[in-house]
Amino acid sequence: MSDHPLDAIFDRYITSPSIFKNHEVLRPSHIPDKLPHRDYEIQFLGKALGSALRNNRPSNIFLYGKTGTGKTIVSKYVTKYLRQRAASIGKNIIVSLLNCVEVDTDYRVLARLCGVVGESVPFTGLPTDEVFQRFKSKLDSKKQLLIVVIDELDKLHHKSGDNVLYQLTRINSDLKKAQVSLVCITNDLSFKETLDPRVRSSLSEEELVFRPYNAGQLEDILSERATEGFNDGVLTTGVISLCAALAAQEWGDARRALDLLRVAAEIAERNSEENVSEIHVRKATKQIEKNTIQEVLVSLPVQTKVVMWSVYVLEKSKLKVITTGDIYKVYQELCKITALDPITPRRVNSLLNELSMLGVVNTKVVSMGRYGRTTKVSLSVSPREVRNILCEDFHIKKVSDFSAEHLLETN
Ligand SMILES: Nc1ncnc2c1ncn2[C@@H]1O[C@H](COP(=O)(O)OP(=O)(O)O)[C@@H](O)[C@H]1O
Ligand SMILES: [Mg+2]
Repeated sequence: MSDHPLDAIFDRYITSPSIFKNHEVLRPSHIPDKLPHRDYEIQFLGKALGSALRNNRPSNIFLYGKTGTGKTIVSKYVTKYLRQRAASIGKNIIVSLLNCVEVDTDYRVLARLCGVVGESVPFTGLPTDEVFQRFKSKLDSKKQLLIVVIDELDKLHHKSGDNVLYQLTRINSDLKKAQVSLVCITNDLSFKETLDPRVRSSLSEEELVFRPYNAGQLEDILSERATEGFNDGVLTTGVISLCAALAAQEWGDARRALDLLRVAAEIAERNSEENVSEIHVRKATKQIEKNTIQEVLVSLPVQTKVVMWSVYVLEKSKLKVITTGDIYKVYQELCKITALDPITPRRVNSLLNELSMLGVVNTKVVSMGRYGRTTKVSLSVSPREVRNILCEDFHIKKVSDFSAEHLLETN
């Protein structure tokens, strides 16, 4: 026998039975054959888009509802089958699914649309108008229908305004052979009101709201996926209902329910246990929270990390109330040590607002009597977590032992 240091770990994977039958099924990207509790939504979208099979341009459709209510999966499910049926009768239906978290500029949208109609354009560089013209003429070179699903439309709109949306809603009047239908999706319930009225009315010729799932519905969704994803008997009683109940606590977010179940099982598997129990689900809630914080903190620009570290340093000090003034003092000192150019107090305040939107600090405006108003700041995540994650950064490492006491005494 070899005595490789990894043998003990790898042997466990080889010899002990796996919890997962098919791990892929439990990932958010998987499209299952059945989508429990979305019959109405599937029928609705199916009827609306189905007219394409009869050569009628489907109305533009607006789908909205909170995250994890199944908007993306239902759109993928319906368009995937529509494409199959269209192909079987020789109809040209093209579907382009754009996720505006990534495709967030007019140029990117148009470049992607060029891609689906077979027009090649460079990643950047051309004037957007030219890209639009090239897309339009290639599209119109034959009889075909293009369905554009614009997922998380609010992200595109927020970053780039409604130029391209406006162009797309008007495009059909310029086309002779081809046609375009739009399916717009947003998680932001109030977003529609912020659209220009002309764009809004053409985008939502039909609309549908996705309601949050309740705990019972989430249980059905999880059970369906669990049958395909796990080996028989590995989930102990109560695991699925606990994941469903936890996800239903805020609102019925199916993504959260699914993540809890998958991560709980991953934890059990990593510990070489044969069953997934409620304890693993509890651990999974902590793990998911930690991962989210990690993702947020790791990807911050360096100046924002230094601002975050200033808040951390003050939380560790004996100060009871942390104000933006205190933060700026510490921030300036940290910049000296790390040899970064300090930005203005105003910019620091706006970075604090960003951190607050990301959910890692709390900011609260308080009245200081005759001294006017100030903003009170505190960490909203565990300081230990912040330390572990931020100290990985080479700038922050230099100030990992910085203490603010000497600065505060001069007050
Ligand atoms: N009815 C359902 N049946 C099976 N899985 C579902 C269902 N609804 C949502 N999901 C799963 O939950 C996750 C979130 O759904 P998604 O469609 O991305 O939500 P939204 O786009 O509304 O935020 C996805 O992984 C999806 O597979
Ligand atoms: Mg979605």
